[in-house]
Amino acid sequence: MPDNDSPPQLQFDSDSSVPEQVVVRAAQLRAEINRANRLYYLENAPELDDAEWDGRMQELLALETEHPSLRTPDSPTQRVGAPPADGFDEVVHPVPMLSLGNVFDEDGLRAWYQRALDYLELESTPMVCELKIDGLALAITYRDGVMARAATRGDGERGEDVTANVRTIRSVPLTLEGAEGTAPPVVELRGEVFLPNSRFADLNAEREEAGLPAYVNPRNSASGSLRQLDSGETAKRPLDMFFYALGYVENAEEPASHWDALQAMKGWGGRTNEWTRRADTVEEVMAAIGNAGEVRESLDYGIDGVVIKIDSIAIQRRLGYVGRDPRWAIAFKFPAEQAETTLKAIHVNVGRTGALTPWAELEPVVVGGVTVGRATLHNKDEIARKDFREGDRVVVQRAGDVIPQVVEVSSRNKRSADSAPFEFPDACPSCGTNTVQTEDEAVTRCVNATCPAQFERLLEHFASRRAMDIEGLGERVAQDLPRLGFISNIAALYNLRSRRDDLLELDKMGEKRVDNLLTAIDESKFRPMSRLMYALGIPGIGSESAEWLSRRFHDLKGLRKATEEELLSIDGIGPIVAATLVAYMAQEQNEDLIEGLIDLKVGARDETPEPSADHPVSGVTFVVTGRLDSMSRSEAQSRIKILGGKATGAVTKKTNYLVAGAEAGSKLKKAQRLGVHVINEGEFIEFMDAGIVPIAPGPVGNSDAS
Ligand code: IVH
Repeated sequence: MPDNDSPPQLQFDSDSSVPEQVVVRAAQLRAEINRANRLYYLENAPELDDAEWDGRMQELLALETEHPSLRTPDSPTQRVGAPPADGFDEVVHPVPMLSLGNVFDEDGLRAWYQRALDYLELESTPMVCELKIDGLALAITYRDGVMARAATRGDGERGEDVTANVRTIRSVPLTLEGAEGTAPPVVELRGEVFLPNSRFADLNAEREEAGLPAYVNPRNSASGSLRQLDSGETAKRPLDMFFYALGYVENAEEPASHWDALQAMKGWGGRTNEWTRRADTVEEVMAAIGNAGEVRESLDYGIDGVVIKIDSIAIQRRLGYVGRDPRWAIAFKFPAEQAETTLKAIHVNVGRTGALTPWAELEPVVVGGVTVGRATLHNKDEIARKDFREGDRVVVQRAGDVIPQVVEVSSRNKRSADSAPFEFPDACPSCGTNTVQTEDEAVTRCVNATCPAQFERLLEHFASRRAMDIEGLGERVAQDLPRLGFISNIAALYNLRSRRDDLLELDKMGEKRVDNLLTAIDESKFRPMSRLMYALGIPGIGSESAEWLSRRFHDLKGLRKATEEELLSIDGIGPIVAATLVAYMAQEQNEDLIEGLIDLKVGARDETPEPSADHPVSGVTFVVTGRLDSMSRSEAQSRIKILGGKATGAVTKKTNYLVAGAEAGSKLKKAQRLGVHVINEGEFIEFMDAGIVPIAPGPVGNSDAS
C-alpha cells in the first residue's frame, strides 16, 4: 500500500523571487516522483499509477519552466528511471534510451504536433503510429549480424547486461537474416519485451504451486523473468518482443524514415508490430487511436496508449530532444481502466511517521487484464466524502501497472439495511493511542512516539538501501525484532551482536543469515552522516536535505545542539525543516536515541567515502586475530573493507598486516614466521581513523620471509 510517509525532500531555493509554497511543492513533487521511480524501476513494486505519476511530472515540469532556478540537477525531470540492480554487468548505452512525453487528449496531441511544425517552419510532416506496449525496453546489439549484447534500459544511460536471458526469447533473432547483404556491421535494435496475457495466469499458477509469490501483472512478470540470474529460468518463461526503433548504427547509412527502419528490422527477422500505421494529419492519428482502443481487449499483450513518431529521420534529428523526451515523438495515453467489484473490508495501516492509510480488501476482479484484490482508499476524508462502506459495489481503477485505487461507489450499488458509514479509527490500530488530524493535512496520524507499528516501519526505512543499507533487514525482520523483544529503539540494533544465540532461535534465521545480518549492521555504523540523517526518518528530511545538513554538522553531536537560526543559515534548509528538526531533537525519546547513536559512534565518521582509493588502508591486506577491546573482529573487518582494504582469514606471504588482539595464537606465530608486520589494536585504530601507517606495508616487510 502506498505510504504517504516518505519525508518530502524539502529543498528551498536560494532564489528568493520564487514563492516559498512553490519551492516546497516542487520539492514534494521531486520526492514523490523519485520514490515512485525507485519502487517502479528497482523494486518492481509500483506505488503511483501512471496518471498520478504523469500528473506530478507535468506539474513539476510546469513549475520548473516557470521558475528555472527550481530545476536542480537531481530533479527527476533531468533523468529517467533508476540505476541497475546488483547481479548483472552494467552496460553504458552508446545512445541514451530516453523516455516519451505524454498527452491525454486530442488538444494535447494537436499542441505537440503544432509545436513541432512551428519549430520546423513546415505545414505538415508525415507520422507513424505504433501501439505503446506495456513491457520493458530492451536494446540488442548485433555485430556482423550476430547478437552480441542485450541490455535493459535501466536509468536510460546505463542498463543491465541481460544477454544470456534475452537469447532465450524465441522471437528475438540470434542472427539477422540477410545480414551479409543488408545489416550494418554494428546495429542496435530496440524494442519492448513482454509476457503475453494468456501465459500470465499459467505462470502464476506454477509459481504458487512452487510456493513462490505471484506476480502482480504481466509487466512485472516480464521484468522478473528478464532479470533472472539463471537464464535457464528465463528460458521457461514465454517472453516475446516487438522491435520499434533503431538505436546505435555504425558504418552504415541509416534508413531515411522510421517506417523504413521498421521494414528493415522486419527484413532482418526482428518482430515488429503489425498494427503500426502511417498518418499525415492529427485527424488520421485520432482515428488510429480510436482503433487501438477498440482492438485493445483482443490483444494478447497490454498496451497503455499509442506512440506517435514523426517519420522522417532527418526531421527527427532537427527536432532533437527537450530534457528526457524527444520532440519528435509523443505517447498518447489511454485513460485508466476500470471495473466493478465488492469492497469486502476496509483496513487501516500505520506508516513510519504515524500516518494512517486506509486500503480496501476487494472481491478479486480483473481490471485491464490484471487481477486486483487490494486497492488504496487514500485517506479518511476521501472515504467520508465518497461514503465508501464495507459491502458496497465499487469502481476500481488501475492505470498502467500501478497500485489500483477505489474511485467511487458504483451507481448500481444496493445497500442492505445494516450498512453504515465507515468509522475511521479514532485510535491507532497498532497501539491504541488517539489519532490526530491537523487542519491543513489530509492525513490522520498516530502521534505516539513509541507506537510499535511506526517503529517497525521506521526500522524498515532505517535499513533501506538509500538509508543505512542493512542487507537482511527487510519487512519481516523489522517486524520480528521489536515484536520478539529484541529491540525497542534504533540504537539497540547495534547491540544485537550480544544476542546472537537468541537470534538463532528466530524462525527461518539460520546461522548464516544471522551472521550476515550482524555484519551488515556493523558495517552500517560507518555510513556517512548524511545517510544516517536520512535514515532517522525525520519528517521533511529527505536524502538531499540530509546531505546539506551533514555538510555543516559533521556529526550528531553538533546537529543535536543546532538552533533554528543556525539551521536556517544552511543553503537549502527552510523554516519548516529547521523547526521540525529542533522539535525532533528536543523530544525525550529522540534525545535518548541520539545519545545512544553518538555513544556507539554511528555515522560519526563524517562522510566516510565508499571504498576510497586514497585512504592508506586502500589495497592493503589484513588478517585480524585474537580478541580486540573496542570492537569485534567482524567489525574490524568491515571497517577495513569500507576503507578499501582486504580482510582475509589466513596469514600468507601476501598479508601486509596482522592485527593481533589478546590471546592471538597460531596466526600470530605464522605471521612472525613469514615476517608479516604485526600491529596492535591501538596502531590499527590510528591507521583506520587518522591514516597513520604503522610501518611501511608490503613486500619490504615480507621479503625477509624464510
Ligand atoms: S519509442 C525516444 N515506441 O515506452 C523514444 N517506446 O514511455 C523511445 N514503449 O521506454 C521509445 N511501446 O519502453 C517507443 N512503440 C513504442 C513503444 C515504446 C512501448 C515504451 C518504451 C519506452 C517507454 C517510454
